[in-house]
Amino acid sequence: MKPAADPGGTVTHASFRVHVDPDKCHGHNRCYSVSPDLFDLDELGMSSEIGTGLVPAALVGAARLAVANCPELAITLTETEGQP
Ligand code: F3S
Repeated sequence: MKPAADPGGTVTHASFRVHVDPDKCHGHNRCYSVSPDLFDLDELGMSSEIGTGLVPAALVGAARLAVANCPELAITLTETEGQP
């Protein structure tokens, strides 16, 4: 299947990354509960994104859920259009 192109012929590939701000995370672990494929916990229960934080298309909804459920607002989800 070919990627969609806009009328101008530009092919776009939106991708997303999650990031946990270590200064804001207090270890509530809700992110890990809703999306264990995107977050890892250290020995103190503090979260960080797995790898580069790149979110597979199938997990974008889970990433949004993690953002919405973090009581410390420690998680950001940013669109990195066209960047691998
Ligand atoms: Fe930390 Fe929020 Fe997850 S406080 S452990 S990033 S739910």
